[in-house]
Amino acid sequence: MSKRKILVTSALPYANGPIHLGHVLEAVQTDIWVRFQRLRGADCVYVCADDAHGTAIMLRAEGEGITPEQLIDRVRSEHKADYDGFLIGFDNYHSTHSPENRHYSESIYKALRDNNRINVRTIKQLFDPEKQLFLADRFVKGSCPKCRTPDQYGDNCEACGATYSPADLIDPRSTLSGATPVERESEHYFFRLPEFTDMLKTWTRSGTLQAQVANKLSEWLDAGLQEWDISRDAPYFGFEIPDAPGKYFYVWLDAPIGYMASFQNLCDRSDYRFDDYWKPGSDTELYHFIGKDIINFHALFWPAMLSDAGYRTPTAVYAHGFMTVNGKKMSKSRGTFINAGTYLAHLDPEYLRYFLASRLGAGVDDLDLSFDEFSHKVNADLVGKVVNIASRCAGFIARGFDGQLAAQPSNPALLADCQEAEAEIARAFEQREYHKAIRQIMALADKGNQYIAEQQPWVLAKQNPQDPLVQSVCTTGINVFRLLMVYLKPVLPAMAAKAEAFLNVTPLTWADAGSLLIAHRINAFTPLITRVDPASIDALLAASRAEVSDSANSPEPINSPERTSSPVAKDPIAEEIDFNDFVKVDLRIARIVSASYVDGADKLLQLSLDLGLGADGQPIRRNVFSGIRSAYRPEDLQGRLTVLAANLKPRKMKFGLSEGMVLAAGPGGSEIWLLSPDQGAEPGMRIL
Ligand code: MSP
Ligand code: ZN
Repeated sequence: MSKRKILVTSALPYANGPIHLGHVLEAVQTDIWVRFQRLRGADCVYVCADDAHGTAIMLRAEGEGITPEQLIDRVRSEHKADYDGFLIGFDNYHSTHSPENRHYSESIYKALRDNNRINVRTIKQLFDPEKQLFLADRFVKGSCPKCRTPDQYGDNCEACGATYSPADLIDPRSTLSGATPVERESEHYFFRLPEFTDMLKTWTRSGTLQAQVANKLSEWLDAGLQEWDISRDAPYFGFEIPDAPGKYFYVWLDAPIGYMASFQNLCDRSDYRFDDYWKPGSDTELYHFIGKDIINFHALFWPAMLSDAGYRTPTAVYAHGFMTVNGKKMSKSRGTFINAGTYLAHLDPEYLRYFLASRLGAGVDDLDLSFDEFSHKVNADLVGKVVNIASRCAGFIARGFDGQLAAQPSNPALLADCQEAEAEIARAFEQREYHKAIRQIMALADKGNQYIAEQQPWVLAKQNPQDPLVQSVCTTGINVFRLLMVYLKPVLPAMAAKAEAFLNVTPLTWADAGSLLIAHRINAFTPLITRVDPASIDALLAASRAEVSDSANSPEPINSPERTSSPVAKDPIAEEIDFNDFVKVDLRIARIVSASYVDGADKLLQLSLDLGLGADGQPIRRNVFSGIRSAYRPEDLQGRLTVLAANLKPRKMKFGLSEGMVLAAGPGGSEIWLLSPDQGAEPGMRIL
């Protein structure tokens, strides 16, 4: 059989927030599959990128006082570092805001246009007269037209479940400015999706999707598809549509094209050829791993676009369910919204990789990260079963036999069992039934442990450390361990590398399950993985809560720009005060001269502020400690203007004197936005 040539992707995370454990679930699911394919000798390429476009990113950059380009560059490197931390083996991690993506987005669009698949028509949309932009449904709130519950989003009511259009809301307001939106007309570009109904009915039924997913889609296909609105009006952060000034591609038009762009970028510095993977009729395979919330984009719009523009369609699209934490939807207010970086600061990435593998199947069920079960799995399986075999046997081989394994293992039948399980374990990995693979691997580990326990090499060794039976029993044990590590290597690449060093072998591949390690010298045993420390879990949960400590009212997790960072003040308005009280607060424009981390304070940044010249002509400087570390890096603050409550009584803190407070808004965590003045304001100016 010739070598399989496979291109694999994970969904592109949005560049407006950090990587969280839900993203990690997806990346780990994909990475295990990719590593498995590579170990089996396939040529398997894995690409991803940040999804960098859209209104949410534009607004966030504006809020931070930086350009969208600066924001997405910073976030991309943060995302990449998080994925590296979880040992995700991307061949390329690109961005949708890239020349390659512009090229393919434009050329695919032009192909659709030339095939008469684009319709231009005028639609009415709510417009924010203050912010001067069209408002997506998520940026409009008001009372439900059915049940009158206040504070509902523009598309549906959380209280009664009604769906409506934002213009139907009672007392609608823009969540961006608070202004009352007005209806405005604008020309939009539509992709004529209904014309692909037959093509999609066939495609979705051709083994490309999980049965559950195909069934769901066929309901939609039977109900009838609608044209897809692919344009957005300026201001928008994205690619302008060719021949349509002021119109931009909707973020979801160019996002999947980002898979192509990332691969093209890899091709430009490797021997891979773009057309081998994207032209119809090639013998390569293409797989997209995604979450269940973005199925329609990948299984309807995307194959329709690809086929119409002359490209191949995916071999399969694999959807997974959502991660919950301790039985609850990931939630900031409960402290169960866990960022990848926070996890990595407290726990070993391979704990989570293993736990996820032990739970992941091929379906779209949600997966609960219960920390009790997480600890139990890791401690009982990895430490108690797998590592235990090696650690029990290694010492006797080292002490009695100078590290030399026997020429004959004592129990060839046990080893044959372990070797024969290979085919079934491989099938489970191939079909993404990782939990089945893990179950079988652990059943083998049980057998190995049971055998060692029966043979009691420690009893024999006590009488004679050089008893040949000690050597052959422990050689059996070490070989069971080696076979387990072959099977676990897609899941635990770092532990496998340590095992290879201990076993004194070249990197294990899947084919190594066909051989045994005999008459071979192994190295001294070093710990491969340690027990989960319950204190680390507590610390992780506490840190996650602290990241959003002042956000009891914060919105639910962000999974799409549709739900992103609507900076709505949810706190009730405070008690009325006199104007005279108000003017007591001396608010000043301040320039952040420098910003730095504070040793021992994980929430604070130390700011040195310039308030212009005082009456005596001398510069006024202020030192302020501000709890904005979760949202800003010092180097990004340097030089920018903000607002300081300048006449607050200085406060003595553990770290020094804090002279005033800078003004910021938001629910907390990474969602804190420093206030900044419009252009023209200068340090020292008083605000009134
Ligand atoms: N940018 C789009 C994807 C474009 S792909 C061409 C997007 N981004 S996302 O950041 O919201 O989500 C990225 C992936 O993470 C999606 O597949 C999504 O389903 C997945 N998850 C986000 N939250 C999740 C959980 N809580 N659990 C599991 N996966 C989740 O959608
Ligand atoms: Zn309602």
